[in-house]
Amino acid sequence: MSLTPIQQVLELARWAPSGDNTQPWRFEILADDRAILHAHDTRAHCVYDFQGRASQLALGALIETLHIAASGLGYRAIVEKRSSPGGDQNHYAITLHPDPALEKSPLIETITRRSVQRRPMSMRNLSPTQKQALEQAAAPYSVCWMETRRQRLAMAGLLFRSAKIRLTAPEAYSVHRSIIAWRSRYSEDRVPDQAIGLDPLTLRLMEWVMQRWSRVLFFNKYLAGTLAPRIQLDWLPGLACAGHFALVAERPPRAVDDFVEAGRAVQRFWLTATQLGLQMQPEMTPLIFSWYHDSHEPFSQTGSVQQALPPIRAQLATIMGDLVPSHGVFMGRIGNGNPIRSRSLRLSLSRLAQGSDR
Ligand SMILES: Cc1cc2nc3c(=O)[nH]c(=O)nc-3n(C[C@H](O)[C@H](O)[C@H](O)COP(=O)(O)O)c2cc1C
Repeated sequence: MSLTPIQQVLELARWAPSGDNTQPWRFEILADDRAILHAHDTRAHCVYDFQGRASQLALGALIETLHIAASGLGYRAIVEKRSSPGGDQNHYAITLHPDPALEKSPLIETITRRSVQRRPMSMRNLSPTQKQALEQAAAPYSVCWMETRRQRLAMAGLLFRSAKIRLTAPEAYSVHRSIIAWRSRYSEDRVPDQAIGLDPLTLRLMEWVMQRWSRVLFFNKYLAGTLAPRIQLDWLPGLACAGHFALVAERPPRAVDDFVEAGRAVQRFWLTATQLGLQMQPEMTPLIFSWYHDSHEPFSQTGSVQQALPPIRAQLATIMGDLVPSHGVFMGRIGNGNPIRSRSLRLSLSRLAQGSDR
């Protein structure tokens, strides 16, 4: 059976990235050219989804992708926010309008190829042309680059310290437990363990340790349990890349719409990187910890974890500049790398369109 135009557009749009592959959206298809997008955020059970911002960024990426996908079929997509129930939900009406004058986006073919590379990349610099294309894609957000060896070392150190918070906070443990698909190369609704970036031995050890919080505590306390994963997941990849970047808004982002808009730029940036043959990994934790710090909302009930937030924010400002913690919307690393061998897949369109319930 052939797909209707709206089904074809959503079929591609569902490949948009989302934090931990949560895909915080469902579709209600109303007609061949119309649908309602029911978006929710995951703040109730994911400590990284501060005020729903990560989900809102993902929603922006989805909206940008559906515009790009629609252009390939000769449609202009109109996406309008409906009166939202508020809180953690937002609804949008999507309508496709035929537009023979519309140019097909050159980014279409990158939608399904774009993915995360969490393993070390080449340290070869980006060319000025590549950087210019990425900056154009991110506009009106400016791009702050950290590329010299010294800057990459400083970023690797920041990520290494930031990861200690990630690995010692009980609030983060419950998230990691639920989003990793163990012994998997692909996963439709989580992150496969093979895509995380650990060597097979450390991975098996981590799988065993992560079955119980008491094991995590013991390992962290007596066996320096955070060291191997932090070196493999944060320090080495932090150094082994062409550089780190932050997308920075003109004004401090606050509202849902600010983050949705930013998510659109993030997706343009990421798809353009894919088009240029580059790979990327978001590195959101230093920014998320800064958001917690600035809002005075606690990240963790554990005192030692909570006390580690201010130095992360201060260090992020020292390395990337004062504007990044307050005006930054997205951070990551980028470079040339080997093809990925494991990745997150997506829920099928029929599952995503089964109703607006989560
Ligand atoms: C807002 C946002 C934040 C993310 N943060 C991180 C991150 O801090 N570290 C990371 O490795 N991946 C991060 N990701 C990548 C997602 O885990 C990834 O997009 C998802 O698992 C789907 O995989 P794919 O992009 O390979 O299709 C983030 C993605 C989004 C959209």
